[in-house]
This record gives sequence, structure tokens and C-alpha cells, in this order.
Amino acid sequence: MSSRTKMLTRRAMLAAGTAGLLGVRAKAVVSDASLRVRAAKRGMLYGTCAGSYQLRDGEFADVLAYEANAMVPEYELKRDTLEPRPGVFDFSGADALTDFAHAHGMKMRGHTLVWYAANPPWLEAAVTAAKNEAVFADYIASVMGRYRGRIASWDVVNEAVWPQDGRSDGLRDCCWLRRFGPGYIDSAFDAARRADPSAQLVYNDWGCEGAERWNDDFRKHTLKLLEGMKKRGVPVDAYGMQGHFRAYRPGGTLDASKLKAFLAEIRALGYRLVVSELDVDDDGGPADAKVRDAKVADITARFLAPVMESGICDAILTWGLTDRYLRGKIIPQDMWISLPRKLPLDASLRRKDMWWALAKAFR
Ligand code: XIL
Repeated sequence: MSSRTKMLTRRAMLAAGTAGLLGVRAKAVVSDASLRVRAAKRGMLYGTCAGSYQLRDGEFADVLAYEANAMVPEYELKRDTLEPRPGVFDFSGADALTDFAHAHGMKMRGHTLVWYAANPPWLEAAVTAAKNEAVFADYIASVMGRYRGRIASWDVVNEAVWPQDGRSDGLRDCCWLRRFGPGYIDSAFDAARRADPSAQLVYNDWGCEGAERWNDDFRKHTLKLLEGMKKRGVPVDAYGMQGHFRAYRPGGTLDASKLKAFLAEIRALGYRLVVSELDVDDDGGPADAKVRDAKVADITARFLAPVMESGICDAILTWGLTDRYLRGKIIPQDMWISLPRKLPLDASLRRKDMWWALAKAFR
């Protein structure tokens, strides 16, 4: 029996095993089809971020390939990992993840090319001293050029809105803005379109999900940014809505009517939507994991309902598939009990209420 057949069999057994474990729940949903199968039936993608170190965890790699038809590097396409020294690149992690994705029929996302964070220590001074936009335009050309045709969607600019910095345009006061003005955002997308005309170009951010007044302000500034880019003919295809929630801490609220209205504006502007980093942190919740899991699933369901109703969502990616890893580390089994439970599978790769909330969203 070929290794691939073995893997498929193993995966099928795994799925059946999971179904068996959760037999009582399986009745609630027509089948135990994976999230990637359910998403594909809606013409969508379900995926997750991952680190190349995780691919060495065989049982995780099997479940990853079984459940997801999209993947994004959690950190291995960020500039601090890619270009630790000027002009010296390390693509090994991104290559491993991209090869794995293509070997398992998954679409790859790229994250992220221009951001205020995760930059190598040498970059800020280089930006400040930069004579022109080559400091990001050449980087975009090099990185996107390497994966041309192999990475289907890119977070070109990440988290450029931050009204809390007090600017009238609500933009974040970061090194890129200080050196090049607001135009750095347009230029980054122009460079990205030139680098890979086939890629979906995404403006990715968080802050528009919640129900608080600061979220209202965030949505207003985000829509102004996206509307301006559309008017100037800037090549942005989609809004990436990260979807980080907290179930028990302040700032975890969600108002479906505000979300629906916001997504209707995104649609009216002609953008597609990518839910790019969905997770629901259960920190601060009660000791009973069942209660926390149910709350996490409830927030997931209440967020995805307006997302699915918008009719513009191409992909839903969670910011991790299993609770087993934390900040780039494999956590020893005896510590799994203490881990956050903010993702679809628990540390033993069993489907949690959040998994079922995603499954129902794709129904
Ligand atoms: C996070 C990673 O998950 C962490 O491991 C890392 O320490 C910091 O960055 N918005 C983003 C993601 O766009 O890149 C961030 O990922 C989470 C917030």
C-alpha cells in the first residue's frame, strides 16, 4: 500500500475515530465531512495558519491536510523571518509550507509584506534613511516574484489603521507612514500587482469586528481607506478581516447588525472578504472547559452568520487548527490542560464546539 494510500486510510480512520468519539454530536450534522469539503461545497476555502515545525508532527500534518484546503504561514513570510539581514533571505520555512500545501491540494496565502510589526531590527533605520520606495517595493517584487503563481492570495499591507494615534485619516503612525506618507499603502499594492498579477491582493486588519464605540470609529476609517483606494484605482481585491475575539475579556463583544452593515459597505465598494485569522480566546473564562468551549463556539457562530450572509467571503482561516501549539512551540502533553482553547480542534486533535460552529456556517 503506497504511503499516500496509507495516509488517506489513516486519515479516514482518524475522521471515523473522531466521529466515533463525537458520535452523539455527529447526529446533529448531516455528515462528518471535513471543513475543507464543506467549504468547497460553498465554493470557499477553510484553512489555518501553520509553522513549518508543525509539519514534523505526523498526526497533526495528517489532520491539517484532511481538514484544510488553505494555509498561511503564521510567521515564516514575515520580514523578520524572511530577511534577517539586509539582502539575506531565508525562504526555507515558507518553501516547506508552500510545498506541503501544493502536495495536498491546498491554496496558499502569503502574510504579510508591509506591516509595522515583525520587521528585522535593521529595517526601521533603513526605512527612515530610504531615498525612495525601493525599501518595500523591491522587497515585494522579490518575495512575491519567488512565489508567483504558487501563493494565491497576499496580505500586502497589514494593520495600517489605528485611529488611536489621533490622525484625521485614522492611519497608524508607523515607520512607513512617517517616511512615505499615506501613499505607501497605494504604492505597496501597485508593486504587488506588478509582482504577481494572478494573486488576490488583500488589505488585512482587525478592529472592525466588535460592538464597542472604538470599533465604530475603526470601521469608519477602514471604509474611508478602502473607498479612497477604490476611487484611485488602487489594485486591492479584498478586505482581510482578522477575526480575533476574546470570550471573557473586555473588547470581545459582537453586534451582528453593525457587522452586517459594515460588510454590506465592503460589498458595495466591490471588495471580496477573507476571514484571515479567526480565533476566540477563552482566557479569563470559568474552570469548566465545556462552558468555555460552548462560549467560543457561540461567538464563532455569531460572527460567521453575517460573514456568510454577505455573500462575498472567499475563505475562512482560523489562526491555528489545534490548541496543541502556542507561539511557535509544541506544548508537552502534560501541559495541554492549561492551554487556551481558542481553536477548532483541542490539543488531542479532537473536534470542539468551535469546529461544529464552522461546519454549520458552511452548511
Ligand atoms: C502573531 C503570531 O500568532 C504570534 O506567534 C507572534 O508572536 C505575533 O504575531 N495580527 C496578525 C498576525 O496579522 O500576524 C499576528 O500573529 C496576530 C495579530
